[in-house]
Amino acid sequence: MMKKKVFLTRTLHGFALKTLKEKYQIEIHSGKIPIPLTKLRSKIRDVEGLICFPYDIINKDTMECAKNLKVISTYSVGFDHIDTEHAKKKKIRVGYTPEVLTDATADLAFSLLLDISRRVSEGDRIIRDGRWKEIFGASDYVGNDLQGKTIGIFGLGRIGGTLAKRAKAFDMKILYHNRKRVSKSKEKSLNVKYVSFEKLISQSDFISIHVPHTKETDHLFNMKIFKKMKKSAFLINTSRGKIVNEKDLIIALNKKIISGAGLDVFESEPIKKSNPLTNLQNVVLAPHIGSSTKETRIKMAKITVKNLILGMNQKKPTYSVGY
Ligand code: DGY
Repeated sequence: MMKKKVFLTRTLHGFALKTLKEKYQIEIHSGKIPIPLTKLRSKIRDVEGLICFPYDIINKDTMECAKNLKVISTYSVGFDHIDTEHAKKKKIRVGYTPEVLTDATADLAFSLLLDISRRVSEGDRIIRDGRWKEIFGASDYVGNDLQGKTIGIFGLGRIGGTLAKRAKAFDMKILYHNRKRVSKSKEKSLNVKYVSFEKLISQSDFISIHVPHTKETDHLFNMKIFKKMKKSAFLINTSRGKIVNEKDLIIALNKKIISGAGLDVFESEPIKKSNPLTNLQNVVLAPHIGSSTKETRIKMAKITVKNLILGMNQKKPTYSVGY
């Protein structure tokens, strides 16, 4: 019997490929990343399964090219790159990988927060550039304490809630804003206080973004918001770059409208060396590595494969969006 076809826009761990090869006829894109759209569309023409990554745009027109497509399994928790409404209409299952990357992403958010407030990466640059000429004096090269400072968590879901645990261990005050307030018992156990978005913005020393990118959150953080933040505040973003208006952020950082930022995500990735963010000292940049630990990436691969197999068998993926 002919094996069903599955296309991967990038390779995965050996164990994952082994499982897939036993069941399906697989093809893996190996050229330019992300795969060019025209190539993607021609490659998925007769496949039933697609494994993709957050930078692969799977929109309506792309899905229309894949007449036999039954399941899209993305190697990510974010699924804003997939037109999930259209997938639902076409009865194409969509699987994603939440939960397993919660700790890794919360850790990365807290690393950026620590780094930007204690100027670790800046110090690293000073040493590597041969600019460490003397022992710093009493008020030279000072950072900020975290103890007693206020962190504002925008989006108290899995990752936001886990970040709250990190912040609690550092004796920070924790504010949060969500579309829906969480239960009193959750608030108590995490030691968090619900506030309006306006209060979160104006009262926090650190604001960390943990909401998905949607029409409502697109460019939500813009100059209007930066001007309402404390001048001493820092913005941390490990969610999606498009939630922040990057042009406005660059101006805000340059003019010290806010103190600094720690960014793992950008409006368009990868960013170029010519991006003005790379010339700013008051920003820490990471190359979208929120989920990037050995352990987490293995767990993500397992779920991605499991979701795909379920979808290929006309079943709902373990973690599924919509249909
Ligand atoms: C995700 O999984 O969506 C994270 O952004 C890591 O890619």
